[in-house]
Amino acid sequence: MHIDDVKKVCVVGAGAMGSQIALNTALYGYRVTLTDISREVLQKAEQWAAEYLAGRVAKGKMTAEKEVEARENLLFVPDLREAAADADVVIEAVVEKLDVKRQLFAELDAICPPRTILATNSSTIVSSKIADATKRPDRVVNMHYFNPALVMELVEVVQGPHTSEETAQVIMELSRRTGKIPILLKKEISGFVANRILGAVIREACFLLEQGIATHEEIDLAVEKALRYPMGPFRLMDLTGIDVSYLVRAQRFAESGLEEDRPPKPIEEKYKAGEWGKKTGKGFYDYRK
Ligand SMILES: NC(=O)c1ccc[n+]([C@@H]2O[C@H](COP(=O)([O-])OP(=O)(O)OC[C@H]3O[C@@H](n4cnc5c(N)ncnc54)[C@H](O)[C@@H]3O)[C@@H](O)[C@H]2O)c1
Repeated sequence: MHIDDVKKVCVVGAGAMGSQIALNTALYGYRVTLTDISREVLQKAEQWAAEYLAGRVAKGKMTAEKEVEARENLLFVPDLREAAADADVVIEAVVEKLDVKRQLFAELDAICPPRTILATNSSTIVSSKIADATKRPDRVVNMHYFNPALVMELVEVVQGPHTSEETAQVIMELSRRTGKIPILLKKEISGFVANRILGAVIREACFLLEQGIATHEEIDLAVEKALRYPMGPFRLMDLTGIDVSYLVRAQRFAESGLEEDRPPKPIEEKYKAGEWGKKTGKGFYDYRK
């Protein structure tokens, strides 16, 4: 398949990532169907997209014509078969569970024409763990966006040993044509590049905290003011959820057994205390005031 043959994209999973990936793709002129197993989630995504577009127009950041075009391009389709039947590319953004993704890819393989590329937005699962659930492993690939997908420019495209060069190149070009800056990883690794580097920063920050070298406030300040990260590691974990930070590491450690993957003590303690950050009112910082 050539990139010019890609006209229709189906996004499966209308949660935090899928809804934004779908709208972003529609804004660049592709016909997009968004689907979800939950009708309620799909309705919420439809409402959110309408409000987002209207808000951009009200602020003068988008023309009314562009809003109409995006709304026409993006369809919310509860039925998976209907949503995916004639898609050229499917981007999967459902829950981070291997068995759910494998089952879904097997269904998509049966629904979609042979040309269709099946991409996963998973943050940790490499596509070779999913590809053999289909009869088209050469068309299975990782396409990893960052949150919020409308804003964040990087896309990590990961070519598994089974992924064809053509598939990798179509997904690289689709990323570019939808306003993103992609990088191509020719070797699979869980977590890919950006999140692994972030993981290393968080690990070192936790080590310094545990050793009593600096407080979490001081470490955040050092990272923000000297390294110029927009947010220090503790502030970031409070925002994204310490439960998520802990569970991702615990799962990776259970799989690899590598000491570097073990959840750091400060994260484990916060997780077990139910202090998961902003969502619970307290994490490394206190938000209850
Ligand atoms: N949240 C992030 O920061 C982030 C960043 C990059 C990648 N990801 C990856 O994106 C994927 C989705 O994450 P999210 O944060 O959007 O999750 P989310 O929980 O917000 O949304 C997941 C959606 O998938 C739906 N779903 C579950 N099973 C389904 C099925 N069989 N068919 C159709 N829909 C189904 C759920 O109803 C839910 O609406 C995960 O693989 C995650 O690793 C997340």
